[in-house]
Amino acid sequence: MSTVVRASLSLCALLMLGDAAIAQTATDARPPKSVAFSFEGALGTYDRGALQRGFQVYKEVCSACHSLNRVAFHNLADPGGPGFTDAQAKAIAASYKIPAEPNDKGELFDSSGNRLTRPGIVADDFPPPFANEEAARAANGGALPPDLSLIEKARVGGAAYVYSILTGFHEKPPVWFKVLPNKYYDPYFQDWNISMPPPLADGSVTYSDGTPNKVDQEAHDVVTFLAWAAEPSMEERKRLGLGVMAFLIVFSGLLFLSYRRVWRDAH
Ligand code: HEC
Repeated sequence: MSTVVRASLSLCALLMLGDAAIAQTATDARPPKSVAFSFEGALGTYDRGALQRGFQVYKEVCSACHSLNRVAFHNLADPGGPGFTDAQAKAIAASYKIPAEPNDKGELFDSSGNRLTRPGIVADDFPPPFANEEAARAANGGALPPDLSLIEKARVGGAAYVYSILTGFHEKPPVWFKVLPNKYYDPYFQDWNISMPPPLADGSVTYSDGTPNKVDQEAHDVVTFLAWAAEPSMEERKRLGLGVMAFLIVFSGLLFLSYRRVWRDAH
């Protein structure tokens, strides 16, 4: 074999290998967008307005498919949370239908076979949108919409990841990429094919505080709300941490002074 042929063969091999390497990694999820949130950093707190708007987005959009099992209505009025009053939390709870306990006759269903319900009370958790996993999958083309209570703790990238997924739908897929039937293109999701239809559009909700309801804003707000859902006592934790730090600094100072005093006359 001539050197030229050998050289061109190895060049081909290199190119093919290179291609294979690219093909293998091309559908890895894109790193999350860089986006700033009020709750980041040692002093970060939740923006109350964003929490309340984010709750509205969850309630009016996401709750059609996603449960929020670990949050109870009374949490909405807890310190460090969205800052609803007790009366507001009560009214919100009452606007939900909760599967009722058996009635006097021990029945769970009415004569038409519908599950009996009652208005929610503040002690109730948010009710799930589907009766069970099978029903959830059946309504979502076989995919399971995960519970959102801890999603921002459960995924690498946390808040920025969820924000990126929610705002990552508008791009056109590359020509070589195949969007599977009943799936949607979102390069921030593993494999780029996601079973969730784009949940947010401009104007999906109407904010009573007049905040513009663009997709970015709606996503930012619901991500703030879900950050709180995943870590409702974050503000308390940070306050405590700062207190401990301040104590340690003062304590070290005192220790240093007493050390100097104890050793003052020693030579
Ligand atoms: C029409 C139903 C539907 C609605 C509405 C919906 N989702 Fe989803 N969502 C899904 C399904 C189905 C999946 C599972 C996707 C998959 O596994 O491919 C999913 C997955 C997700 C994921 C998980 C991605 C992961 O890493 O597993 C997040 C986060 C998410 N949804 C957030 C939201 C938020 C926030 C809203 C409201 C703004 C919302 N979804 C509205 C159906 C929905």
